[in-house]
Amino acid sequence: MATLGFVGLGTMGSRMAQRLLDAGHPVVGYNRTREKAKPLVDRGMRLAESPRAVSTAAEVVFSMVTDPEALRAVALGADGLVAGLGPGAVYVDMSTVSPSTTREVGAAVEARGAAMLDAPVSGSIARIVVPLGAFFEISSAAAKVAPADTPTKIPSFCASCLLACIACGAGIVMT
Ligand SMILES: NC(=O)c1ccc[n+]([C@@H]2O[C@H](COP(=O)([O-])OP(=O)(O)OC[C@H]3O[C@@H](n4cnc5c(N)ncnc54)[C@H](OP(=O)(O)O)[C@@H]3O)[C@@H](O)[C@H]2O)c1
Repeated sequence: MATLGFVGLGTMGSRMAQRLLDAGHPVVGYNRTREKAKPLVDRGMRLAESPRAVSTAAEVVFSMVTDPEALRAVALGADGLVAGLGPGAVYVDMSTVSPSTTREVGAAVEARGAAMLDAPVSGSIARIVVPLGAFFEISSAAAKVAPADTPTKIPSFCASCLLACIACGAGIVMT
């Protein structure tokens, strides 16, 4: 199974990463406060030293952080996850941030030849812990650039309701 990366292991991210481990994926994770990741490490997640190290090791990378400042902190810069994306890589941000921040990060991702999907979550943690395997509610999946086999790499993330809004940044506007 595909190795998946997860940056931001807070209330939402830790539960999402657990779902990926439960589905059998090797998961590489990063959290600013390392000790919070211990329960996931105990369940098999490999803890990376930086967001960049996560995206270097994973085929598909997810992030789930607090706000625009947090997203810029984990995505951009020398140790940011964008710096570790290779051509053709897929990056999915699920944070609730501003459209301008999404577009800024999306441009940096595109410059590396990778694809970004902004897939903010609508709902609460109750939607994650139920066994539906569905928490992509709205995604502005840039279908023209996202590799067609992405859903087969992450079957545990199959969406029950996915709106393809085409332009990066449209997903966050919809939520
Ligand atoms: N909770 C919900 O029910 C819910 C529902 C829908 C949408 N959302 C959205 O989901 C996102 C995450 O929510 P959450 O409830 O998981 O929040 P949370 O429990 O507060 O977790 C926030 C995560 O962001 C990281 N972070 C914050 N600031 C950072 C920075 N400057 N640099 C690096 N990492 C930083 C935190 O790292 P540390 O552990 O080091 O602090 C933590 O991993 C938010 O955008 C929220 O609006 C939440």
